[in-house]
Amino acid sequence: MHTLRTLQLKTFPCLHVAIGLTMIGLNFVSSACVASAQTMAPAVVKVDPASGTVFRLDGGDATYAFGVNQRGELQQIYWGGKVAAGDPIPAATVGIEWASFDSSYNNTPQEYASWGAGLFQEAALKVTFADGNRDLVLHYVSSTKPDAHSIEVKLKDISRAVTVTLHYKIDPETGILARSATIENGEPKPILLEQAAAASYTLPPAHYTLNYLTGRWAGEWTLNSEAIHGGERVIESRRGTTGHQANPWFAIGRGDADEEHGETWFGALAWSGSWRIVIEQDQLDKVRVTGGYNPFDFGYQLKPGEKLDTPIFYAGYSDHGFGGASRLLARFTLAQVLPRAPNPKPRPVIYNSWEATEMNVTEAGQEALAEKAAALGIDRFVMDDGWFGQRKTDHAGLGDWYVNKEKFPNGLKPLIDKVHSLGMDFGLWVEPEMVNPDSDLYRKHPDWVLNFPGRPRNEERTQLVLNLARPDVRAYVFGFLDKLLSENQIAFLKWDYNRNWSEPGWDQVPVEEQKEVYVKFIQNLYSILAELRAKHPGIEIESCSGGGGRVDLGILHYTDEVWPSDNTDPLDRLTQQDGFTRAYPTQVMLSWVTDSPHWMNNRATSLTYRLLVSMEGALGIGANLNKWTDEDSATAKRLIAAYHQVQKTVVQGDLYRLISPTNGSEFTATEMVSPDRSQAVLFTYVHATQEGRGFPNLELLGLDPDATYTLTSIEGKTLPGTPAAASGAWWMRHGIDVNLRGDFQAAAFRFDRK
Ligand code: GLA
Repeated sequence: MHTLRTLQLKTFPCLHVAIGLTMIGLNFVSSACVASAQTMAPAVVKVDPASGTVFRLDGGDATYAFGVNQRGELQQIYWGGKVAAGDPIPAATVGIEWASFDSSYNNTPQEYASWGAGLFQEAALKVTFADGNRDLVLHYVSSTKPDAHSIEVKLKDISRAVTVTLHYKIDPETGILARSATIENGEPKPILLEQAAAASYTLPPAHYTLNYLTGRWAGEWTLNSEAIHGGERVIESRRGTTGHQANPWFAIGRGDADEEHGETWFGALAWSGSWRIVIEQDQLDKVRVTGGYNPFDFGYQLKPGEKLDTPIFYAGYSDHGFGGASRLLARFTLAQVLPRAPNPKPRPVIYNSWEATEMNVTEAGQEALAEKAAALGIDRFVMDDGWFGQRKTDHAGLGDWYVNKEKFPNGLKPLIDKVHSLGMDFGLWVEPEMVNPDSDLYRKHPDWVLNFPGRPRNEERTQLVLNLARPDVRAYVFGFLDKLLSENQIAFLKWDYNRNWSEPGWDQVPVEEQKEVYVKFIQNLYSILAELRAKHPGIEIESCSGGGGRVDLGILHYTDEVWPSDNTDPLDRLTQQDGFTRAYPTQVMLSWVTDSPHWMNNRATSLTYRLLVSMEGALGIGANLNKWTDEDSATAKRLIAAYHQVQKTVVQGDLYRLISPTNGSEFTATEMVSPDRSQAVLFTYVHATQEGRGFPNLELLGLDPDATYTLTSIEGKTLPGTPAAASGAWWMRHGIDVNLRGDFQAAAFRFDRK
């Protein structure tokens, strides 16, 4: 016989009224029943007034509410489109018990579920105590409100002195929540954390589509789209780093949500080490998203009095589909995450010599390229791999960060002076966390690398990973970078990271602390970046990892741009850029124009096409300028100048994917609109015209319907009859007809409000 029953709720009279309601920001509502602040509507659900607390956060177009249920657990109450300030938020009520198999604890949308009390779903926290007890049940203790947009909620185990402080901060503009947790051991003996997430988010039962990004080296940013069914979809990295293979981002659309319509929930984890996001549809069809440290091979010991902070798991809501979600996240990243937020400058146009010279860099060769780059209107000249130690191939030199005297007999100064005299600033490639066994550093400190002594080890690209968790390694890495920046006028570092971890041993610390490497390595990476930036405030940094292997909102708090892929084939880049911009802003999306035919696909494309593809992000040139004709240089110079005129709109405006190149589309069309709607830029691409089909009519989005916009060609033509100026309504309703046919053709236009 079924034992299904609904929990009987104790009823109490409504004791408090909502206090401190504001339209935007955090509303901290202490109540036994949270009724309308204005109407004082009667309570819908009653809870024990001793522990009864409901918290409500409003920002942008979203509301998030959670509260303490009758048992004392913290659970989500509502997350979605903004509700009216006076709307009643029901008190938290525990979930039902589903027969004798799924307890009420399982069916309650816990804000931070600890493993204990018979939890079968994804736990946010799992602990082993010194006495072998592994049961942990967190109950609400107290809350504090550090500022108008934040709240901190303290939870504690029902009997033991383990506390978790949940941090919540809502962005008033976008409604994006920043959630993280601090776990503290108040027990007299150490505890072992086996699983520690930053947050869990719950969505109501519905039909959903999950979008997420996967890939591989030179094939990053593939968009996957699938229905959410019962069970778990895990996206993760076990590699010690973010990884090319999956990116810590998700977007979930409800029902028929599409690019521009429908409810969408999305999020991104700010962590550059092993990470995991689990999307789980539970036994009662609720969807939960839990993200944080990857529990695989995880183990973090907290001694008495010690704490562990988790990364931040950002999440937001849009009712403008997947496009709306990516626009909110981009705006948030620009305003809140990047090191120069809220007003990062558009990126300088760079020249990088990697594809032209690889490691064969010399003073004369670099200077010759610098002269050619300057003539194009390039702002920054970057010397890539090969300038240091005994670096001739990738078999030697990493770790020895002195200038190679054969290649640069007088150090870097003559080249840097030359670059400055040409009106550009200077950037340099480094790969600080790596060492080649064939290096002075390794010969001196063979114990500095991650490995399990006595075991074989992988030497991918003949290099090993320095154990940055070690204080002496951290000091060495900071020291050489600080010296490099102090002794040379370097404006920019391209910070590379060309392999993932294998055999991640750290045998110099006690066994029970060795797995802490997963956390401490990344903490030290971030602290080096922060300290370098503090000491050299002008420095700008790119995060590169053999392409897009280290792109996440954690590293983007310390770096100004990222290298999305070593694959610079323009057609591939269109799809990659489509995937990339779902999670990250074009501001940080470096995109080089390189040589044709492309080394990877052997595809020949025009220089104009390549330039227009790269102009969708932070434009760079990575071609061998020694092979360029005068005509090539003139084309690049003209388009670089045109790019500068619209760059702020392109990299900081709202991005609309009018036609996505995914799913075998013949065309791509991307539009960016400046936040004040005074300018729009349209990029159009045809991959291969078939059966004479012309370019589809494009109805623009995001313009001011009542304003007049003039149309200017950046490159390419429209069909006869296209007006030179028309209202926003015309461009959005009638649209624009671009005259584009052939293979790998591109055109771009700008619209300026009169
Ligand atoms: C990685 C980067 C490249 C280049 C090389 C240098 O592959 O992604 O852009 O810097 O390293 O070795």
